[in-house]
Amino acid sequence: MDIFNKIKKLKKKRNAVILAHFYQDPDIQDVADFMGDSLALAQYAQQTDADVILFCGVHFMCETAKILNPTKIVILPDLNAGCSLADSAPPKKFKSWINKNSEHTVISYINCSAEVKAMSDIICTSSNAEKIINSLPEDEKIIFAPDKLLGSYLVKKTGREMLLWDGACQVHEIFSEKELIKLKTRNPEAEILAHPECSENILQHASMIGSTTKIINYATQSEIQSFIIVTEPGVIHQMEKIAPNKNYITAPNQEGCSCNECPHMRLNTLEKMVFALENLEPQIEIPESLRLKALKPLERMLALS
Ligand code: 13P
Ligand code: SF4
Repeated sequence: MDIFNKIKKLKKKRNAVILAHFYQDPDIQDVADFMGDSLALAQYAQQTDADVILFCGVHFMCETAKILNPTKIVILPDLNAGCSLADSAPPKKFKSWINKNSEHTVISYINCSAEVKAMSDIICTSSNAEKIINSLPEDEKIIFAPDKLLGSYLVKKTGREMLLWDGACQVHEIFSEKELIKLKTRNPEAEILAHPECSENILQHASMIGSTTKIINYATQSEIQSFIIVTEPGVIHQMEKIAPNKNYITAPNQEGCSCNECPHMRLNTLEKMVFALENLEPQIEIPESLRLKALKPLERMLALS
């Protein structure tokens, strides 16, 4: 039996649903029941009636699914699939920083640990961050964590001053402006589409800035035929499926190589998915007291989304 059929059979046996982020390998995207950006995946995880959620993404995404769905079994194909942004905010350091700024409301990007979520007032993703910030009274003092690049972009977009935690995504911070300009010169007809986790010197060249879903929708629905995609290249698989005749060019990093795959996301494989479904392992577990604290800011976000 080929591996795709094996996964389908196991999925049925376990009454499992497979969720996958757009940064997964194309094979994983093709076998998933539901694909989405971080917000859509959290919303889907909240509603599913499957017994098992096989989450092809990274650890913080699976934690989010478990926080929202404590009675379900949540499995991640590779438990080592972490996130540089989430790792940039160790809970102890984060706690002492927010304690020093205790008059601030803490908005945390969903790319953070359950512990950091539990210390936050509200969570956001790249697709609802502006809305979440604008929902707070104008005079409210705000901390934004852990992504300083997304935070700087949002300060500019919303006009709100925010204290920023010093974290960044290792995939998005290494795109090169010099190489991007060279690429655009060679492809003047191509529009630059960028994720807001990129630095400001990259974002200033983009004609559209948005979440993975927004980038995919824009590229496939626009009348323009050629795009330079400044995010993890996994999104291009969806674009090629929806609008196969367009031209999608990956953006170069500082070495001039268009090879910015997320090393964490790409740890998941079809073989590890089979193992996870056969053994219902590795499972994500969260102590109930922590889960309840992390649930509050997540529910606040979902209510506003
Ligand atoms: P979105 O899918 O919400 O745009 O997030 C991108 C990302 O970096 C996820 O790790
Ligand atoms: Fe984390 Fe960046 Fe990978 Fe997303 S792409 S999981 S933010 S390291």
